[in-house]
Order: sequence, then structure tokens, then C-alpha cells
Amino acid sequence: MCGIIGYIGTQVAQEILMAGLEKLEYRGYDSAGVATVVEGEIKCVRAKGKLHNLREKLELTDNLARIGIGHTRWATHGKPEEYNAHPHMDTAMRVAVVQNGIIENYRELRQQLQQRGHEFRSDTDTEVIPHLVAEFLSQTPTLDYQYPGLFLESVRQTLKQLEGAFAIAIVCADYPDELIIARQQAPLTIGFGQGEFLCASDTPALIPHTSAVLTLENGEIGRLTPMGVEVYSFEGHRLQKYPRTLSINPLLVEKHEFRHFMLKEIYEQPGVVRTCLEAYLHNDWLVNEADVLGERKIEGEILNSPSPVQLGISEALCDNLEHIQVLACGTSWHASLVGKYLLEQLAGIPTTVHYASEFRYAPPPLTTHTLTIGVTQSGETADTLAALEMERVRRTPLESKYQPRLLGITNQLESSLAQLVPNIIHTHAGIEVGVAATKTFVSQLIVFYCLALDLASRRQTLPLSRIKEILLGLRQLPAQIEMVLETQQQHVEQLAHQFEETQDFIFLGRGINFPIALEGALKLKEISYIHAEGYPAGEMKHGPIALLDAKVPVVAIAMPGSVYEKVLSNAQEAKARDARLIGVTPMNEQDAAHTFDDLLSVPAVEELLSPILAVIPLQLLAYHIAARRGLDVDQPRNLAKSVTVE
Ligand code: AGP
Repeated sequence: MCGIIGYIGTQVAQEILMAGLEKLEYRGYDSAGVATVVEGEIKCVRAKGKLHNLREKLELTDNLARIGIGHTRWATHGKPEEYNAHPHMDTAMRVAVVQNGIIENYRELRQQLQQRGHEFRSDTDTEVIPHLVAEFLSQTPTLDYQYPGLFLESVRQTLKQLEGAFAIAIVCADYPDELIIARQQAPLTIGFGQGEFLCASDTPALIPHTSAVLTLENGEIGRLTPMGVEVYSFEGHRLQKYPRTLSINPLLVEKHEFRHFMLKEIYEQPGVVRTCLEAYLHNDWLVNEADVLGERKIEGEILNSPSPVQLGISEALCDNLEHIQVLACGTSWHASLVGKYLLEQLAGIPTTVHYASEFRYAPPPLTTHTLTIGVTQSGETADTLAALEMERVRRTPLESKYQPRLLGITNQLESSLAQLVPNIIHTHAGIEVGVAATKTFVSQLIVFYCLALDLASRRQTLPLSRIKEILLGLRQLPAQIEMVLETQQQHVEQLAHQFEETQDFIFLGRGINFPIALEGALKLKEISYIHAEGYPAGEMKHGPIALLDAKVPVVAIAMPGSVYEKVLSNAQEAKARDARLIGVTPMNEQDAAHTFDDLLSVPAVEELLSPILAVIPLQLLAYHIAARRGLDVDQPRNLAKSVTVE
């Protein structure tokens, strides 16, 4: 995905665009550029690599333009080179465009434009847009070229030609008082400042200027002038739209005393878990140890009152459920695997978890009474959105009584997911800037605990004592995460130093902690570029054990419960092959202390809740190894915060 920004107003645009791009850099960072309109011309400056390269170039220019657009890129079409960086312009360099998304039919459009004499300078899909706009501008014989509204109309005509998912911002040298923007399945929000208007892919870029915002919906065009904002449909109808007030605290998007956003976000996790639980657990259910013990005496009593969890999802969504399918990618997929365990073990509902990118092209046969859940922290991941949309269409004729049962779990209430899916559960993690997901993962887990408990209560699959026990355990988690951070931070940092040169890691887990092994390995891969494999501990002997020697550390998640002894045995098998063993395990566990060379200790909790604690030291381990290697932890190479292309 990419980040786009636009500005029109009374201040010098360039600095505002650059400050905005800094807030959007997490969306892509292989090149960047800005274009401004000044003295009847477009001034476009672009640079390969991180934003500071562009800043260095801009320092050599003196640009007082009051209108401009900017872009930070994650390459899809064309290598990350300066000539492929946005903004892109038409042959005569009168129109400049930034785009986030993909123009799927760009090849044929490009060919047609080339046949009509347009010269292309990049390999990108985006470049067709300025050429088309310029062509429409020049080809309107009955209208004066400067006719008010012609620029807007030319963009509208251009949009009719485009297929794909995109957000765009466009300026034209002949219309120095107009910034035209459009959205089709990629985020774009307008900010209303004092005598100035902005647009951006994400609100952190707008917050320093205003809290009054308007998020464009799919199929909408905005015309921003010094006088105000007009919104139209792609069909050309003027729409009545009103801004709303953002409640985001600008301080949330600063690093404060932390060296990286990722570390700050790891430390925010106790607060995130607290907020999420407060949002969803009913206050009448503030249970304590005595309650749980008391309940246990009433053998087998079943909950006979409203659910202790309030997720705001309707009975129609949950009624007679026979199957749940979860669609997600990356870290969200890992959270969904934990979710599967909870939904099956607590609520007794058979659950399948699919990579959204695979599901789309090989969907399982349709089943009735099925709930489909899309999990995406950004709410913008193209694979997940496409799979959900396919499922919506596929299921519509099947479900006679209900609409297709679709549920979204996201950290972004304003995302494309929220437009696609009517039922949303918010993960309340706050803005996550680091590309490697940490606090959004933990918040997704909390939502799955709440969902499983809610369904278990509705379906009466658990005794009251067990529900109370889990509620009590959940409420203790924030303090326990704090304890892990306090006791492990320094220890993990020192341990990490020993793995600076390590080339391979294995992460082992079983049962509910197998997805945590996958997540530990993914975190390490993403930010330290060390090869890491997450494996079910019992499967190691069926092949991967061949990889082991003294140079390959093995991290095993060994939390007391149904598979504790088994994991310790699997760890021993690795030790027998000279592997250095690191155990994520409760404090004071003697068996574990004898088995492992190094311990990452967490408080003792019941197995069901252990993933939330086990993942914290693994996040710290990945962070410290990457930081020690001097890598760009918050913006690892080749990645973007979410991937808005399939
Ligand atoms: C997580 O650290 C990754 N950056 C990545 O795997 C991510 O989880 C994946 O792209 C899905 O993103 P989403 O949750 O925004 O859909």
C-alpha cells in the first residue's frame, strides 16, 4: 500500500506535505515525491528510498506553492526507482497524480494512449491517469479549457475508464485553485482546517491541522478549493456530506521516550487489553476468586442469564450456527488460529481458518448456518476484503432467512472492511505505527476470547463456574503483561545480543500456543531478516529436526496444561541434536528450568489464557535482535503496514 496526501490553503504546501508523509511513511517507503503548482507550472520532486532522501532534495529548492500532493510508495508495478516514484505526470507535464491502489486495466489503457501519441516515463499503472485527464481536458471542444468544473469533469470521465481499487489526488497547472480527489476501495479522508483543506490516506497525517474530517466513501469524488469542499458521486451528482470530529489524541502517534514505535506499542499492550476488556465485558460480571470457588461447588450449573460479554452482535448472526470460517492474512491469521481453538473448545462450534489469498481461488463448498469472520487490523488488506466480498456474493442466494452472516474484526472503524461488512467488532488497540503488528495482535486475541465466551453463553456450552474462571483470568492479564515487561525487558535484551549473527531460528508450540510459535517466527523474520520457522512441536521429529545443530536456536513455548510434558519432550529431542534451547515458560517451573538453556519467564496462568503472555517475550526477542542489528525496526525492508493489493 502507499500513502497519499494533498493540501490547498494559505500556508506553504511543501512542508505540510512532507510532515504528512512522515505520518504515512509506515504505508510504504521505497520512494516518495511531491508535486506543487506554482506560477502556472507543476514542480515535481521525487526520490528513491526513504523520505529523508526526498527531504534532502527539497532543501535545495525554494517553493512557496499553496497547493500540492505527496506520495510515499510501496512498489506494485515497477521497481522502486525514482522514475517510478509518484507523482506521475502527463506528456506536457500539466497534470500530476498520486495514487494508492492498483489500476487493473492499465495495460490496455496505456497501449491505447501510446497509440494516440502519449509518452510514458514510468513502468507504473498510475501513469495512465494523468494522461487520460490531460486528454479529456484538451478534447472538450465546446468548452473553454479554463471552464470552471472542467478539471473535475475530466477526472470524472477518467474514473469511468479505470478498473481496480484506488484512491487518487490530482493537481493541474491550469487549475491552481483545485485539488481533485477520488476513492474506490482505498482509504481517503478530507481534513477541514482554518482556511485550508487536506486529504490523506490516514488520519494521523491530518491530526496536526484539524480534527474535523470527512472520510470519502467508495465511488466519491472530492473537489477541494480555497473556498471549501464539494463531494460528488462518480455519476456526477453533488452529495450532501458533513464532517465529523476526530477524537484521536495527537500524542498517540509520537514515539515519546521509546527508540522505536514497535517497542512503544509492545509496552502499550497492558492498556490495550484493559481497554478492550472494559469495552466488552459486562461490569455486573466483576468476579473474584471466592466467586469462582463458590460456583465450582454448584456442579455443572449452566449460565441462565444474559451473556457476560457485550459485543453488539445480533442474535440473527449467531442463531443456530453450525460452522464458523475465518479469513485473514499474516499476523491476523495467527490470531484467528488461536480464535479457532477458543471457538471450538469453549463454544463447541467447528471452525476453519483460511488464508484469505488462498480462500478466494479455492473456496470450500458452501455450507448453511455458517458465520464468516474477516480479521484485519487495518481493515484494508486486499486479500481479506476480496475473499469476504466473494463470500458475500456467493452466500446471498443461499441464506433465505438472513443476509449472509458476515462479521469483521478490525482496529479501523473507518476502513473498507467496515464499509463491506455490516457487523464489526473493534479491537480498540489505538493507532499502530510499527509495521510489525504487536498490540493489534493481542487485541485481536482478546476479541476472540470475548466472542468465544459470548457464543458459549448463548449456546450454554460451559458451566457458570468455568465462565467466571475465564472472566477472572482475563481481567488479571493486563497486570500480568506488565509483569512480563518489567521482569523480561532487560533479560531479553541481553539474550538478544547473543543472536546478532544467528541465521536460523525454530519456534515450537503445541495446541493453543502453536499459533504463538508461528507469530514469534513471523515477528523475527519481518524485522530482523533472520530465517525463522514456526512449527507444531510434535511435528518437528517428522522432518524439520534435520535442520538442527548447535547453530540453530530453538524457542519452545512450554506452558503447563494439556501438552506441557509433550512440549518438554519435544524440546529434549532438539537438545539431543545440540540445539540451544530457549523456553517460554512460567516462573519457578523446575522441569522447564532443567530442560532449557535460557528461560523467558511469564506468570503462571491456565493454558487457555497463556498465548497472551507467551507472545510478549517473543515480541521483545524479535525487537531486540533487530534493534541490535541496527535495522529499521518500524519500517522493515519490502513491507508495508497493510497490503492493499492482491
Ligand atoms: C504483521 O506483523 C504483518 N505486518 C502482516 O503479516 C499483517 O499482519 C498482514 O499483512 C495482515 O494485515 P491486516 O491485519 O491489516 O489485514
